[in-house]
Amino acid sequence: MTLAPFGRRLLTVTRNDGLGAYRMIWAVDLDGPPDPEPGQFYMLAAERNWGGEDGRPYLPRAFSYARADAGDLAFLLEAIGPGTDRLAGLEPGEGLWATGPLGIGFKPPERGRPLLVGGGIGAAPLLCWRDAIGHDAATLLGFRSGAHAAAAVYFPGALVATDDGSVGRHALVTELLREELDRDPEATIYACGPPPMLEAVRALCAERDVPAQLAMESGMACGFGACMGCVIPTRNGYVRLCVDGPVVDAGDLETAWSH
Ligand code: FES
Repeated sequence: MTLAPFGRRLLTVTRNDGLGAYRMIWAVDLDGPPDPEPGQFYMLAAERNWGGEDGRPYLPRAFSYARADAGDLAFLLEAIGPGTDRLAGLEPGEGLWATGPLGIGFKPPERGRPLLVGGGIGAAPLLCWRDAIGHDAATLLGFRSGAHAAAAVYFPGALVATDDGSVGRHALVTELLREELDRDPEATIYACGPPPMLEAVRALCAERDVPAQLAMESGMACGFGACMGCVIPTRNGYVRLCVDGPVVDAGDLETAWSH
């Protein structure tokens, strides 16, 4: 596990690339560890205007990094509210407060080939995981629309499904997963996406006795184990996703619906 240096540090944004409905923000992290592990995350806040009209600051937001390249970190964002709007609007040269890398990431497969399954912005940690394990790793991606499916450009060879059928198969990504597991029941699954998708992946893998690691989403307030805001129940008791996850073995969960 790569440990975060103490305290937050100020990164400088170097690029903000449009990617359909998403932005890919790049920032240079000269003082952070150069080797974050896929599945780890950072707490991010814009340096400027990080607050509402009443001046009340927003809490930092947790984002898995999508790529780490010689001191540059990339984050996949969608502007869905005041905080994410501000992050998605960062210009090159602006400051980005970051704490991280935090949490525990993906582990190598115990058996078979890795099969990556991403939903929406959950594709982010799968991108750096694919960088680590090989760009030919089989990948299934599901998106709401063609605008969101633009993120698939970073995953050459991936099979894509969309909810509206505008790009790839008109299907849920879990339907693609069921077909892949029919072909190769020995795969190990790595998944990240919204809770309903992760629960469908967990249930399917439990039914087929397939190992799966789930990178789970949570509203994280502190990111380092202090606030208990990210607690989920597992078969072994409650765990804090920010320190015991965000990657969790699917076999430890009764459900992935908790957050
Ligand atoms: Fe505070 Fe996990 S986010 S304990």
